[in-house]
Amino acid sequence: MQEFVKSVFDKNTTAEQVASGYDLTGKNVIITGANSGIGKEAARVLGNTGANVTLAVRNYEAGLQAVKELKERALSTVSEANFSVSILDISSKQSIKDFCSRYAEENKQLDILISNAGIMGVEKSFIDGLESQMAVNFFGHCFLSASLAPLLKSATNARIVTLTSIAHHIANIDFDDFNFEKTDYVPMVAYGRSKTANVLLAVALHNRLASFGITSLAVHPGVIHETGLNRSMSEEAVARIAASAEGTNKTIETGAATSVWAAISELFIGKGGLYLEDCSVAELINTPESESVHRFKSGVFPYALDSKAADRLWTQAEKWLGQPLDIT
Ligand SMILES: NC(=O)c1ccc[n+]([C@@H]2O[C@H](COP(=O)([O-])OP(=O)(O)OC[C@H]3O[C@@H](n4cnc5c(N)ncnc54)[C@H](OP(=O)(O)O)[C@@H]3O)[C@@H](O)[C@H]2O)c1
Repeated sequence: MQEFVKSVFDKNTTAEQVASGYDLTGKNVIITGANSGIGKEAARVLGNTGANVTLAVRNYEAGLQAVKELKERALSTVSEANFSVSILDISSKQSIKDFCSRYAEENKQLDILISNAGIMGVEKSFIDGLESQMAVNFFGHCFLSASLAPLLKSATNARIVTLTSIAHHIANIDFDDFNFEKTDYVPMVAYGRSKTANVLLAVALHNRLASFGITSLAVHPGVIHETGLNRSMSEEAVARIAASAEGTNKTIETGAATSVWAAISELFIGKGGLYLEDCSVAELINTPESESVHRFKSGVFPYALDSKAADRLWTQAEKWLGQPLDIT
């Protein structure tokens, strides 16, 4: 149940501080979009705990460059082999299938999946007939998580961490208009909808996989301007976001902390379907008063945690895929 829980950490905690003292030797981790930004930092920190981290990236050269850097910065106590790269274009069903078969050939289990890749604020475009932010941020990770479910079931206390955003405050999903045919396309509204879908994905995965001991969580990492996420946006739009987040910006090191916390904290064994931020379980915004305090600052809206909407979205994903996603 979504209820505020504060941990010993906070918004100023770094991913490295969260992982301090953990030994994840022998654990397998996949992080999508880990060639840059907070995904790369999460990969660095988890690799330094001894885990085998696969950077699942669409640009192989960028992945190799990131792995080279992570190996150079690796602690002397861990093997350089802890960091590897594998091609995954999360916008392509075939690429997801190929990635998962390659991974299953080499690994018997998956302990932690961090669905981190994302795009934001792009101009209107479509991938296989679906609006591209919904396709990349939600649908690709839905298909990936479902395809990796057998390997997650083979691990003990496995985790799926899905990156969402405070931008889910911008918009709920419109089940009747995924492609903005009835409403004008606004890039950040499309992003907001896709990030609402990411929370619903965490809920859907929790409802289907908790009985297998798999914990599924949604993470808002904070606002981190240093990453490349806003590369498609106009200077004006970037400035607007910067102004609204003034004073709350995080660094890449603190921005990766909640992903790492979700991936390893014992607090979440046997729990899930929760929205986390600042290394806390976030407040539920369920009254007009809490909405006036939290809107666009913190907390999660109930529509993003609604199990019925999560099921409806899962069914929609099966339609887009053209086949059932039966993982129970
Ligand atoms: N930064 C923030 O303020 C913020 C706030 C809230 C939520 N988030 C979320 O945090 C996550 C990480 O973002 P970030 O800030 O670290 O930005 P980032 O550095 O741009 O990382 C995003 C990654 O996703 C990858 N990616 C994009 N499309 C892909 C595709 N089709 N297949 C595979 N990988 C793809 C990018 O790869 P390329 O390098 O090849 O483009 C990049 O490595 C995102 O899900 C984002 O929505 C970020």
